[in-house]
Amino acid sequence: MPKFKLPSGTQDILPADIPLRRYVEETTRRLFELYGYQEIRTPIFEYTPLFVRSIGHTTDIVEKEMYTFLSHQGQVEPDKSKIKGSEDTLTLRPELTAPVVRAYLEHQLAKSNKFQKFYYIGPIFRHERPQKGRLRQFDQIGLEALGSYDYLVDIEIIKLTLLLFQTLGIKGEQLVVNSIGCPKCRVAYQTALKEALAKSVSDLCENCQRRFQHNVLRILDCKNKKCYEIASHLVPISKFLCTDCQTHFNRLTNGLDELKITYQIDPHLVRGLDYYTRTIFEVRHTTLGARNDLGGGGRYDNLVEELGGPPTGAVGVAIGVERTLLALKSAAKDKVTTLPIPKLRVFIVTVDPKARGYAFKLLSQLRERNIPADMDYEGRSLKSQMRLADRLGMPYVMIIGPDEMQKGMVKLKDMQSGREQDIKKEAIYEILFRDN
Ligand code: HAM
Repeated sequence: MPKFKLPSGTQDILPADIPLRRYVEETTRRLFELYGYQEIRTPIFEYTPLFVRSIGHTTDIVEKEMYTFLSHQGQVEPDKSKIKGSEDTLTLRPELTAPVVRAYLEHQLAKSNKFQKFYYIGPIFRHERPQKGRLRQFDQIGLEALGSYDYLVDIEIIKLTLLLFQTLGIKGEQLVVNSIGCPKCRVAYQTALKEALAKSVSDLCENCQRRFQHNVLRILDCKNKKCYEIASHLVPISKFLCTDCQTHFNRLTNGLDELKITYQIDPHLVRGLDYYTRTIFEVRHTTLGARNDLGGGGRYDNLVEELGGPPTGAVGVAIGVERTLLALKSAAKDKVTTLPIPKLRVFIVTVDPKARGYAFKLLSQLRERNIPADMDYEGRSLKSQMRLADRLGMPYVMIIGPDEMQKGMVKLKDMQSGREQDIKKEAIYEILFRDN
């Protein structure tokens, strides 16, 4: 048994897992850049108040799931009641929307052009109970478009999210949309919720009893079975949308219809972060089990202002990479096996240890010419080097002994046909390139 294990809810991404991830990442970059989104990278941790302020005090993420530590003592998870407003604490990012908005404001990116489109790929940290598709460190791919209130941007983000899944080869995903209105519509809705819940407050979980006082809307997103059951019978916000929000939602659904995008309207859909306004959506996949959202997002028209900027419309999405990989593996088996996995072309085998220096120089020259090559570093016998090359599936083996060194030649063996030929060192590049 090894002495150390990896932390619960995390994973090692081993070399065998890399090609599929790269395929997802490279497809993402290509597609998102085609639509005019530019990559942005922000730090792994931020000052805690950024997340508390944007995601919301009473959300699960802020209440239970953040990895927070004192910035000067490195102490993890100090007394949570003391950390919420303090810049003495740092938090491993539990999402990337707020950091992108912070960067947009801090670097005054709106100066050159108010409307800016970003994408990101990177690790996220949430202290959740680990299970299939639910990790404590996972990667998110995301899009954030800042500087517009136009419903067409909502459609672009939704379309691009679905297009990514399609391009990757995922099948069977479902789009669910809703509108949660603006603060104006929510005043009346909150009052209605409080009235409806007044009699059942004591049946709610402890957190929701508190939420009833401070942020009644959050009860709609509680994962507790009893709360969920109670919430599913409550009147949906759709009945309380103001005219502007209803118009925005109608335009959105009409636009989706025009693009022939299939979707369901779920009037009970809410999201686990407080910053949303108007459009919210999730893309779900049936193979994922209880936590079946591959990705989710929506509008957050007040967040830029909340974080110190001018009123700025914004909309975005984040997609879970690990859940995408699960869906990809289950829904597109053929595609997964035909992924372009970069392969080594040639293995250099030495007949005599004295040839190793010569072989190593040759190896460097091959690599300089972009020919993926390798050699043995374990002092194996000639026979065992050949066996290794075979096991690694090398198309070619280059054999070097004293004779070859003296003549400036190499013996090149085609591993499939078994044919061997003595060729001049300079000629090998051409053969390997020709065959690449
Ligand atoms: P979110 O719904 O919290 O939204 O997360 C987005 C996606 O991250 C989920 O749909 C899921 O695929 C993945 N995810 C979440 N938690 C886990 C976990 N514990 N393990 C594995 N995957 C997970 C946001 O984060 C918002 N920032 C999205 C957004 C962007 N809204 C506007 N812009």
